[in-house]
Amino acid sequence: ARKIILDTDPGIDDAMAIVFAEAHSGVELKAITTVYGNATIENATHNALYLKQYFGLSADIVQGTDKPLQRNPVGPTVVVHGEKGFGDMPVPDVLEATVDGRPAYQYIIDSLKQEPKEITLVAVGPLTNLALALQAEPAIVDWVKEVVIMGGAFGVNGHRGNVTPYAEANIHDDPHAADIVFGASWPVTVIGLDVTEESFYTRPYLDKLRDDAGDVGQFIWDVSRYYLAFYSEYVGMQACHVHDPSAIAYVIEPELFTTRKGPIRVVTEGPAIGHTIQKFDNRSHHYDEWEIASPQNVAVTVNSERLLEIYRQAL
Ligand code: BDR
Ligand code: CA
Repeated sequence: ARKIILDTDPGIDDAMAIVFAEAHSGVELKAITTVYGNATIENATHNALYLKQYFGLSADIVQGTDKPLQRNPVGPTVVVHGEKGFGDMPVPDVLEATVDGRPAYQYIIDSLKQEPKEITLVAVGPLTNLALALQAEPAIVDWVKEVVIMGGAFGVNGHRGNVTPYAEANIHDDPHAADIVFGASWPVTVIGLDVTEESFYTRPYLDKLRDDAGDVGQFIWDVSRYYLAFYSEYVGMQACHVHDPSAIAYVIEPELFTTRKGPIRVVTEGPAIGHTIQKFDNRSHHYDEWEIASPQNVAVTVNSERLLEIYRQAL
């Protein structure tokens, strides 16, 4: 099994990714490191602890940072993920599960150092913890096995943004951190809206999970009600996109996706703040802004049918 640290802002689709990682035998979920984003850092961590307790996860839960590196904080996306991150699903205020005392970036550094080339970092929230880890210990680029990120949108099939016309939420929350993470010389694969918006959890699919997948199926069904109401009202569809679980699917079966290679830069100011751009041809080679970034993989197609079947089977 591939050992992963999942950096996440739970978050409804984050929870869908966490239970997937736990259920599939191809993944060993070593730790969940939290980040602000869909919810405040306190609520994101509380939700992760709740999942640990409710599903008996062995993963460490580690709290990460509460704000972006430089930009003004965007704040929780209450309309998408609810007041505290899990829609309108009640989560007990008091939990027995507890956090590892280190800050997330330090936990990431320590873990990669301890087990060089063994751990894949999967990030499905704003990239601040990863950027902080890179800044505190640049050598992690050689210790990590692989970095898989849900974030961004590269214009494939017209997918350009979900929080603004030109930005995806995770990157928009901390564009400076994203530019650091994409530019570092470690192997990154980006699973952006280009592919995550090509896969759909329909209402009948989620009903079937509830019927067939026991406690975890019921949980997914419960937590997704609020999310589906958002999609119905604002996106106009009776389904939700498969964002964060797609990053886990890539770890399990990379062949589900095709990718293209090239350096990625992130717009860090102005109306297109958070926009991600990949240079994937040989034109404009003389611009230094593009030479400083390492070539990374961006997913451009996905086998959705198989992805959804793998998810269903795992749960
Ligand atoms: C991303 O933003 C968050 O709302 C989701 O959890 C996902 O990580 C999609 O743009
Ligand atoms: Ca997320």
